[in-house]
Amino acid sequence: MACALFGGRRGHGGDGCPGTQTRWSREGRTPCAPPTASFPVVVRSPSPCYHNASTGSRIRHRRKRPPVAEGHLATSHAASATAPVVTVESAAPGRVAAIVALANQKGGVGKTTTAVSTAVLLARAGYRVLMVDADPQGNATSSLGLDKQALLYTLYDVLLDGVGIARAVAVTDRPRLDLVAATPGLAGAEVELVTVPEREHRLARALAEVADRYDVVLIDCPPSLGLLTVNALTAARHVVIPIQCEFLALEGVGQLVTSIDLVKRRLNPSLDVLGVLMTMFDARTRLSTQVVEEVRRFFPERIFATIVPRSIRLAEAPSFGQSIAEYDATSRGGLAYRAFAEEMIGRLRLRDADASTSDGL
Ligand SMILES: Nc1ncnc2c1ncn2[C@@H]1O[C@H](COP(=O)(O)OP(=O)(O)O)[C@@H](O)[C@H]1O
Ligand SMILES: [Mg+2]
Repeated sequence: MACALFGGRRGHGGDGCPGTQTRWSREGRTPCAPPTASFPVVVRSPSPCYHNASTGSRIRHRRKRPPVAEGHLATSHAASATAPVVTVESAAPGRVAAIVALANQKGGVGKTTTAVSTAVLLARAGYRVLMVDADPQGNATSSLGLDKQALLYTLYDVLLDGVGIARAVAVTDRPRLDLVAATPGLAGAEVELVTVPEREHRLARALAEVADRYDVVLIDCPPSLGLLTVNALTAARHVVIPIQCEFLALEGVGQLVTSIDLVKRRLNPSLDVLGVLMTMFDARTRLSTQVVEEVRRFFPERIFATIVPRSIRLAEAPSFGQSIAEYDATSRGGLAYRAFAEEMIGRLRLRDADASTSDGL
């Protein structure tokens, strides 16, 4: 099925457009006026929301959090044609973000949990992180506590309406962590992209605009091998494959690896599998151990040392709009994701985070 997706035009990944660099400050975050853009977003409740004065990106958080201290906001938005021009430094001049897709066409294997947990932990460790929610279910968007109704621009607008990605970047209320959100409308993109030129490269091109402003970009893929996942794999340098410690865990992984190879050969030669993460390990069952052994035989070099246990705390965290690091950092799941984030830092060879901004892992 995946093969059918790779027909059509082939191009190069990213156009390298650096975009305008902007300095984002607390002052730029002002109470929202009613939206004036003609996007089909209806803000249904008068609850507090903020938008970035430089871009018009609009967000509203479900939970009240204490205001974030100035200088802790990580967003670096390009100025829109009409917005006042403000300036921002890049995360690390001359460096571009490590772009990592979390992919597995099976649903419920821990892609979103891993993406959200890792994004929050890396941001806490001092890295500038952009999370791209590429799943129309928008679970990463919800898990980070953002109200989808309050978003002016989302990934759909970037992929199909030519909205610059900087305008779709929403600040989360976590220092150094930004999000390009997804709403159910993104499901239409799978169909609409089919007829669009350079359809596999839309996300790569968009991310090139902001790649120098982040240390890490994490793309949470949908549970399919459709064009959204293909866009993620074309934009990414690395793939992390979460695999659930369950019967038939490896079923479908062969197809995923074939798709990754196909993308690598046809669309994105620099793509590699950063690693395979075993999730929802249940120490009480022999099955979990057997599955880990089987996956280790399949990916002897690639399996992460960290194995994420099945943990009720991990399952509870999203309903509070929190990651495990915020909800229960010292739970077994919290400690596992901390260890995983450390492995990611090592495998991605991320520079040492700025100690002055790091809250530690
Ligand atoms: N290690 C875990 N232990 C228990 N529940 C988990 C764990 N990881 C994820 N979950 C829960 O399992 C469900 C599916 O996880 P999710 O990360 O959304 O998978 P995917 O993104 O691959 O569909 C979610 O309800 C999530 O909270
Ligand atoms: Mg998901």
